[in-house]
Amino acid sequence: MTTTTTTTFTDVYMSPRLLAPGGTAADLSTHELRYGPLSYGDPDTLLRTVAESGLTGRGGAAFPTYRKLVAVADASRRTGRAPVVVANGAEGEPASRKDKTLLRLSPHLVLDGLQLAARAVGAGEAHLAVEDGASYLESALAQRKDPLPVQVIRLPKRFLSGQASALAQYVSGNAPLPRHQHPPVRERGVRKAPTLVQNVETLAHLALVARYGADWFRSAGTPTQPGSTLCTLHVPGREVRVVEAPFGLPLNRLLPLEGTSAVLVGGYHGTWIPAAEAAQRTLDAGDLGAGVLAALPAYRCGVAETARVLRYLALQSAGQCGPCLNGLPRIASAFQTLATPGPRANTRQDVARWSGLVEGRGACHHPDGTVRLVRSALTTFAAELDTHARGLCTASDATPLLPIPNEAH
Ligand SMILES: Cc1cc2nc3c(=O)[nH]c(=O)nc-3n(C[C@H](O)[C@H](O)[C@H](O)COP(=O)(O)O)c2cc1C
Ligand code: SF4
Repeated sequence: MTTTTTTTFTDVYMSPRLLAPGGTAADLSTHELRYGPLSYGDPDTLLRTVAESGLTGRGGAAFPTYRKLVAVADASRRTGRAPVVVANGAEGEPASRKDKTLLRLSPHLVLDGLQLAARAVGAGEAHLAVEDGASYLESALAQRKDPLPVQVIRLPKRFLSGQASALAQYVSGNAPLPRHQHPPVRERGVRKAPTLVQNVETLAHLALVARYGADWFRSAGTPTQPGSTLCTLHVPGREVRVVEAPFGLPLNRLLPLEGTSAVLVGGYHGTWIPAAEAAQRTLDAGDLGAGVLAALPAYRCGVAETARVLRYLALQSAGQCGPCLNGLPRIASAFQTLATPGPRANTRQDVARWSGLVEGRGACHHPDGTVRLVRSALTTFAAELDTHARGLCTASDATPLLPIPNEAH
């Protein structure tokens, strides 16, 4: 399997904004030398600048950051409760390395953003939630004189740990299980207080928007999708790389598409697209999810890769909602059957039908994200599925490509 050592090549596509150059971690004095000291200004000015910047969340849904900040501040005014802010560094997506890399190389940028977001919404409590690197981050915090103390929360290693309501539950002292979306976490989250959950990369961008302004932020990316984004790139035979790239960059500048049959865009809740289509696409916040891009070479089987991922996703269901608990294992097992060459009667149709039955039926979006991957695999690998039905497989290399935690190789 591909080595998963992370390196950063931040200067290939644009001058790096987020990640410390040279792949070395920036301590506080290096950080301040690079970006200048943090000054807070008044919350209204910051909110206006964030609105003008067009910054959107980098945790998967690309939700406008300004709208979330305002919603939390409004909920606080209505309820009279000071909000809680949680920096989401869970990075439960196994194929993503960008948040861990950012926290390792530029922890102070995230911590600046966390303080700014807390100030903007008038928070009384701040947390930084991570699966790994908690002691390192506690040392980074000890170098700072922040107005609001930050507590580092160690999360269990699970795909769902970073889902906003699961995170709010865990910070409240409960099991990290997703809750129904209504009322949303921004109104009723940690210990029922309005809660701002913001991905760590979003906070790092916020720290730069506050320092350099909206026009500077918009000088990268496109008018509708301004700024840059961190991506984790998987190319067989190469180290996994984290890069910073502007929205709008053609995907073929990021991934070699020659000899590639398909590209996974957005991670395990994302979509497979044929390589020919990927060659026409650009980096788009609408489908980038957690920023994962993986090139599947023509000599590997996309159906088998999808089956491995689906098995993992089914095991990650929090088991609270019937359609998710029963439907995902059934879909995963049927996909495993499809991955094994041989006549398969109606299995493809069954998978498509069961996907319709679980979609939109969970407390969280785990089934929806899983179904998105399933549907894209049925379409993108339709020819390979036909070949399997004839008892053959075009792949000549069965080495797994995508990382699955704790999977025996
Ligand atoms: C199943 C699931 C898992 C998620 N895992 C993460 C995660 O590991 N990290 C993250 O930042 N957001 C994750 N999210 C998205 C969060 O719920 C939330 O939208 C995000 O942290 C908000 O931050 P942003 O607006 O800055 O993107 C997940 C969502 C779902 C449905
Ligand atoms: S939809 Fe699935 S993962 Fe989400 S809360 Fe329900 S059972 Fe858990």
